[in-house]
Amino acid sequence: MVEALERVGVLVVSYGSRGAAILDSLLRSDEYDVNAYVADRQRNPFNIRFSKEHVVIPSLDPVEISRFAARRREELDFAIVGPEKPIIAGLRDILEAEVGIPVICPTRKYAIEKSKVAQRRLFQEVAPEVNPRFKVFNPEDYGSLSDVKADLFKWLDELNDEVAVKPDAPAAGKGVGVWGDHFNTRSELYEHFMANFKEGPVIVEEKIEGEESSFQAFCDGKHLAPLPETRDYKRAFDGDRGPNTGGMGSYRDSGLHLPFMDEADWEKERSIVERIFRRLRGDGSNPEIRGVPFYVAFIHTGRGPMILENNSRPGDPEIMNILPLLRDDFVEVCFRMIEGSLTRVDVESKASVVTYKAPPSYGEYERFFPDKVRREEVGTPIILDEAEKLASRYGGRLRIYPGSMELRGDGKAYALRSRTVCTVGVGDDIQEARRVSLEGLKAIRGGALWHRTDIASEDHISRSIEHMRRLRRRG
Ligand code: GLY
Repeated sequence: MVEALERVGVLVVSYGSRGAAILDSLLRSDEYDVNAYVADRQRNPFNIRFSKEHVVIPSLDPVEISRFAARRREELDFAIVGPEKPIIAGLRDILEAEVGIPVICPTRKYAIEKSKVAQRRLFQEVAPEVNPRFKVFNPEDYGSLSDVKADLFKWLDELNDEVAVKPDAPAAGKGVGVWGDHFNTRSELYEHFMANFKEGPVIVEEKIEGEESSFQAFCDGKHLAPLPETRDYKRAFDGDRGPNTGGMGSYRDSGLHLPFMDEADWEKERSIVERIFRRLRGDGSNPEIRGVPFYVAFIHTGRGPMILENNSRPGDPEIMNILPLLRDDFVEVCFRMIEGSLTRVDVESKASVVTYKAPPSYGEYERFFPDKVRREEVGTPIILDEAEKLASRYGGRLRIYPGSMELRGDGKAYALRSRTVCTVGVGDDIQEARRVSLEGLKAIRGGALWHRTDIASEDHISRSIEHMRRLRRRG
């Protein structure tokens, strides 16, 4: 007689394709029969289809999510949270206090993503050698705009204008402006600075030249379980041009690090994150940092990695390079995170490539490329049938995750404003994974969607490798 699997109820808090990928990973469990309850920003067709119950809470307000969870208290074993906004707003604190279920994400206190200023100060204490020079401009410290401007320009003199301007509060990567990329004159820089300064503190830090990578680790409060490194593509258009976005795609290689990194870079990253972890953990254990509290962006220079920022949740798209390749049962990984016994996570030695499609308004595509927009297709339904058939033929080597898409009353799904849908291709090497991801993308119809064509391309990766060689020679 076949024994019935143990039933587990999970609340998934979802924003975009990352939420669909988390749900998919839970449902692939061989060890548990998962009933998923999804609190979502909109009627995501994937989440509706595969959850036991789906509720739309557009603001992802913790109190509303907690009310929904309280009604399902008897069915729920734990919750897992993808997006930063509810984490920063204290969703875990509220769910644990009001509903009494364990939650996989950091508490409000340890969501260090909420303040870039606090992050820089923390890095300065634990790893000053990898922290770029920075200065904080706090509106409370200035009596007049001319004082701020004078101080700012003095700092620009010191750094020869080679700076990055970042708001203290998270802005999904979009508040960041970099000299030479987003502005080329001091007056443009000042305009960008002021747009952020009106809202709160701003950091102006040394611009670092190098190649970016993303480090992620699961954490049970006692141990850090690092995941293979990924590369995100932040800029909207091919050749890393155009506005910043949430990320148009990403790749991982079949090993632990990326083609432009070496073993020493990877070990250095690990040791830096370990130092941050130990500072926040203290001696023993601190369950408040459970989840993915260390999704850290690094920039690789001729003298090794420097630290850019620390997010408090899984990366979107970066976690989608990893979840489909977990060898461990993801529900078991979650239970071990809750128990404090997650010492490591096993991931297949395969490459993966994520590529996003987005609507013409996203990343200002239609403003930059008005002639490329297929006007007759704008606002038409997004058809995933062919791509899903292809995915089932590929048997796990291709996954399709709807993101900013909404299932409407006519039974069809439409693109909203953000990244619409992504495909995850898996292969023995990056180029094979890319081919699968692009094949999936090509099979998606409707909505006049567009995508970057150079995500994980041989040419892009060779340029990263060549860039790193030049930087290392310069030292
Ligand atoms: N890939 C960028 C982010 O998740 O913030």
